[in-house]
Amino acid sequence: MSDIEQAPPGVDSTVPSPARMYDYILGGTANYEVDRQAVEKVRAHMPDLEDAAWANRGFLQRSVKWLAENGIRQFIDIGAGLPTGNNTHDAVQRVAPDARILYVDNDPLVEIHAKSLLEGVPGTAFITADFRDPEGLLGHEQTRAMIDFTQPVALLLVTVTHFVSDEDDPWGLVRRYVSEIAPGSYIALSAISSDRQVSEELDQVTAVYAKSSSQGAYPRPRAEIERFFTGLEIVPPYEGAPAEVCHIGVWGAEDPDEANSDGSRLGYAAVARKPA
Ligand SMILES: C[S@@+](CC[C@H](N)C(=O)[O-])C[C@H]1O[C@@H](n2cnc3c(N)ncnc32)[C@H](O)[C@@H]1O
Repeated sequence: MSDIEQAPPGVDSTVPSPARMYDYILGGTANYEVDRQAVEKVRAHMPDLEDAAWANRGFLQRSVKWLAENGIRQFIDIGAGLPTGNNTHDAVQRVAPDARILYVDNDPLVEIHAKSLLEGVPGTAFITADFRDPEGLLGHEQTRAMIDFTQPVALLLVTVTHFVSDEDDPWGLVRRYVSEIAPGSYIALSAISSDRQVSEELDQVTAVYAKSSSQGAYPRPRAEIERFFTGLEIVPPYEGAPAEVCHIGVWGAEDPDEANSDGSRLGYAAVARKPA
């Protein structure tokens, strides 16, 4: 997408959007000049940005495959983003063709792309809803029609909580969602961390996101990311690893040392089970 005139109704191509910026970072074409300029400003202060994004896609794909292999047949992917290929339903339905995947995002361009990508794909749907509105999201007609809350569900929160400020209490929101899902359900969550970044550089990065449609980004220290998993049983991220959060790219990696690139170390991830 190269010019403002091409923006569909409801899409503001004059303000960068995190979904479109992420698409550009991953080499997609569903973005505008304003998004590309914003990404380049971020990249100047976070050179491992692209590596981090691919490490995160690896986490998403490996974790949902693992969840499907471990019997999960319903997925709610919140902050799903613009499709770049090998999305949640591709990875899941290769293992379990009967699985159902509900995609959720609050970006209008994601809705347009998702609807065309998912047309005719059995077991998939997209709704426009906001993570910060659990009642609206969980009570949505499509959610109720598609998800059986008496059965285990995988709730995917893959690089979305860092778009929610402390004031909006992302920990309380995760608790609220977890309270609605059956024992034996899982959450898979990744988030960008502030741990390995120089604070002046990070300030420059967050300043770019402050002017985006999300109105902010909130990289957090490890302990604050670990808090998302309070009361849940974290799964060891790979054989022989302790059951704790890990750097994003390491989760489920065949060779964790090799996967632990500079980009991978920009954030943390875990998959955790809701106990009985
Ligand atoms: C970095 S992308 C991640 C996409 C995908 N989950 C992945 O990790 O590959 C973040 C996505 O979260 C969405 N998002 C941000 N805040 C949100 C909110 N409050 N509710 C729903 N979606 C949100 C953005 O529109 C964007 O598509």
